[in-house]
Amino acid sequence: MGIFIASDHAGFKLKEYLKKYFDLSDLGTYDEESCDYPVFAKKLVGQMKEGDKGILICGTGIGMSIVVNRYKNIRAALCFNEEMTVLARQHNNANVLVLGARIISTEIAKTCVEKFLSTDFEGGRHQHRVELIDRTD
Ligand code: RB5
Repeated sequence: MGIFIASDHAGFKLKEYLKKYFDLSDLGTYDEESCDYPVFAKKLVGQMKEGDKGILICGTGIGMSIVVNRYKNIRAALCFNEEMTVLARQHNNANVLVLGARIISTEIAKTCVEKFLSTDFEGGRHQHRVELIDRTD
């Protein structure tokens, strides 16, 4: 399973911080020069195969979430704390964690990543609900 991370300039410092603690494939951005979050959001989902996970960071997390939730089989969860992250995995089988670097502390972000990587999907009644996401009938 691959674990990819990407950010825009607003998320750059938090991305670098998280890379110290987790084994993450970094898809950029690589400095704090102003850049466009959709470019990095699209780059990350373009790399993801079944079973992979992604972490996206921008200022609020909102822009990254809007972009990647347009893609089929991507379930991106913008999380602000441990509880949201655990539930995003257990109930929503989220495969992308989105963080807002201007909203949460680095310590909370680290905890969110830990939970995102270690918490399993519960399946059961949630399996059916996740399957309903893409159904058009
Ligand atoms: C960049 O200033 C900011 O707009 C971006 O990081 C993000 O918060 C967008 O949703």
